[in-house]
Amino acid sequence: MPYVVKPPVIKIEPVDKPQCALGLGCWAFGGSQWGGQEDEDSRAAMQAAYDLGVNHFDTAQGYGAGRSEQLVGEFLQGRRDEVYLATKFFPSEQTAQYARDQLEVSRQRLQTDYIDLFYIHWPKTGADLRPVMEGLEAERSKGRLLSIGVSNFSPEQMDQVSEVGKIDAHQLCYNLFWRYPERDVIPYCVEHDIAVVTYSSIAQGILTGKFPKEPTFKEGDSRPGTVYFDPEVWPHVYEGVERLKALSEECQRTLTHLAIRWVLAQPGVASELVGARNAQQMQDNAAALDGDIPADVFSRMTEISDEVMSHIPDVGNIFRFYP
Ligand SMILES: NC(=O)c1ccc[n+]([C@@H]2O[C@H](COP(=O)([O-])OP(=O)(O)OC[C@H]3O[C@@H](n4cnc5c(N)ncnc54)[C@H](OP(=O)(O)O)[C@@H]3O)[C@@H](O)[C@H]2O)c1
Repeated sequence: MPYVVKPPVIKIEPVDKPQCALGLGCWAFGGSQWGGQEDEDSRAAMQAAYDLGVNHFDTAQGYGAGRSEQLVGEFLQGRRDEVYLATKFFPSEQTAQYARDQLEVSRQRLQTDYIDLFYIHWPKTGADLRPVMEGLEAERSKGRLLSIGVSNFSPEQMDQVSEVGKIDAHQLCYNLFWRYPERDVIPYCVEHDIAVVTYSSIAQGILTGKFPKEPTFKEGDSRPGTVYFDPEVWPHVYEGVERLKALSEECQRTLTHLAIRWVLAQPGVASELVGARNAQQMQDNAAALDGDIPADVFSRMTEISDEVMSHIPDVGNIFRFYP
């Protein structure tokens, strides 16, 4: 049965499956690190995505220690081929066998024969990941994964694994308030024909404009630990959001919509992941793709972003996570 894909429609080579350029990020479905999550809300978010033609689902073994993969797997029963499915694993051991074993773990939990895009979730500092890449290529030749991704890699780390395999996609943090990948990682991907998939594309909710000047979080929500909420950074982020909000009112679009569209409008970006914790958020995020936004609005957003970025230190990644 033909299925609907919401425009803009893209393909991440070499998989010949049309997919919406906006993908559903399923991290919060795991519950942990987000202050809890109801399974019913996660299921409703997936259903809304599916109904709206947002058919790229992104999960990982690490999200809720497998709970996110499990929920996605249950949802995919009977419609697996209609969804572009991506998941990720940590290269805790740097051997080909370990990579192959982890693919098996994901295939089981996701109840699927194949993964469309299987990522190495984070590099391991100083480690040689070529054996891991060799394991992934061996699985690709058996059809158990269709494309190979890396995430949070430097150009040097991409060079290393590229000696023994082909990187098809790089998943990286990119949004109006985190633009360091523009320096070298995105240009590297463009030059080497690697699809850029963005994460935390609305800065983990900050770019919806919903956080007050003095934000509070549920226990277990890891967001306060990101660089954005550092006492010397947050006032500048908050001020930037206020300026962006004023602009969004001027053009009669919500800030969420503008922030999502700004990412897709940037050079080199193929696909954008946004997390949704319930059906309403998913519907809102999908609606961002509707209608035209004038180019000068994006340039005015970039100017505001430039000012905010001058106050955000380059700490490597927003989480300060250095495995
Ligand atoms: N490869 C990696 O290392 C890596 C790292 C991070 C993320 N990711 C992937 O990228 C996906 C997206 O990134 P992310 O989840 O970090 O951040 P994000 O997409 O920037 O923000 C998602 C969060 O914003 C809030 N939100 C979303 N839509 C909203 C709306 N319309 N209105 C109000 N609030 C809304 C929700 O949290 P609240 O409702 O709680 O505010 C949601 O969990 C993840 O789910 C994951 O699949 C990958």
